Amino acid sequence: MTASTLPGQPHFQYRGDELFAEDVGLADLARAHGTPLFVYSQASMLAALAAYQRGFAGRKAKIFYALKANSALGILQVFARAGCGFDIVSGGELERVLAVGGRGEDIIFSGVGKTRAEMQRALQVGIRCFNVESEAELEVLSAVALQAGQRAPVSLRVNPDVDPKTHPYISTGLKGNKFGIAHGDALRAYRRAAELPGLKVVGIDCHIGSQITTSAPYLDAMDRVLDLVASVEAAGIPLEHIDFGGGLGIAYDGEQPPAADALWQQLLARLDARGYGDRQLMIEPGRSLVGNAGVCLTEVMYLKPGEQKNFCIVDAAMNDLPRPAMYQAYHAMAPLRRGDAATATYDVVGPVCESGDWLGRDRDLAVQPGDLLAVMSAGAYCMSMASNYNTRGRAAEVLVDRSQVHVIRERESVADQLRNEKPLP
Ligand code: LLP
Repeated sequence: MTASTLPGQPHFQYRGDELFAEDVGLADLARAHGTPLFVYSQASMLAALAAYQRGFAGRKAKIFYALKANSALGILQVFARAGCGFDIVSGGELERVLAVGGRGEDIIFSGVGKTRAEMQRALQVGIRCFNVESEAELEVLSAVALQAGQRAPVSLRVNPDVDPKTHPYISTGLKGNKFGIAHGDALRAYRRAAELPGLKVVGIDCHIGSQITTSAPYLDAMDRVLDLVASVEAAGIPLEHIDFGGGLGIAYDGEQPPAADALWQQLLARLDARGYGDRQLMIEPGRSLVGNAGVCLTEVMYLKPGEQKNFCIVDAAMNDLPRPAMYQAYHAMAPLRRGDAATATYDVVGPVCESGDWLGRDRDLAVQPGDLLAVMSAGAYCMSMASNYNTRGRAAEVLVDRSQVHVIRERESVADQLRNEKPLP
């Protein structure tokens, strides 16, 4: 029996002609739980985390998983048990972390538009830090904290103005982006934060974008952030921690991003050289921890040959896998059972009534109706961005741990979807 690994996803491999997640055959999962179905490998998540942990060995560093990438409670449990904190961006995400037993001190709160209610709740549970993104937010947070009789711990998210060379929708550290406080305004914002009675300045953070596949933008951002650390501290405002955000990319289509430990070796060398090596470090990775730990299983429903294009119509759609429609993103596709039938070239599309509902273009596939495919690298920003468009229920999710299978989310029913709606009298 031959075992062969799919690029980028070593925990998903063929045994003979059958695709497995760890020790579980994916076709069996599709039969048992239906499609579309998200399947996650716990070993893959822990291996991705271990690369960061190796990179930080011997340092004061903490990893805050950015749960926007995949916020299923089962996934959060894996990271909580492995010692991670969490980077949240909404009150909803806060409640998810609390639901898996996360403590306030393990939570940092990012995002440009925190509401007063979200701030109150975060203060109530004693979160570790608010990553504040504007001077206006500083004023509101200070007022909310004073009302609660507290001082809110704050870090300012600074915008280092470096180009992460990724898709424009997921670049966040350039001047024209809505995120962060401009480099040139940061010192003023820190002075204001230090004088506001409801705030306690504890750190600095940045996040320059997502799906970054080279080290250079990180090194540039680090230099820019350290320049600010120097000037903020020279102004008499000490910074306990430095948070370098997330953003490390994964291989979707042969990209070769640096491994997390290799990247951090470079970054730590730079920190050491500039004399900040013993500072408390934080990071907020999302995609690189879960992206290649998940696949989405889908069944081929119809083949529709055409003059210009052949279409392979599957039962997963843009509501399940929004990244191709939103970012023209590439996700590899692999048959759950390999055969030697002749291939044809297809656009793989879903049932949603939009021309934008495609999952892959010009793919060579040997498929018949009833066959099953895995849409690869679907662990990050797929289920967490899924919608009910066309009143399609969101998919079920299972987590595989060696030969064990845990259903971590049931398929959403029509009744689930209609629950909050009220007919007119
Ligand atoms: N921290 C902050 C403040 C963020 O805005 C993000 C992602 C992260 C951490 C985690 O970044 P990661 O390590 O996952 O790259 N939906 C898009 C990605 C949007 C990323 C938004 N911010 C996609 O599917 O490509």
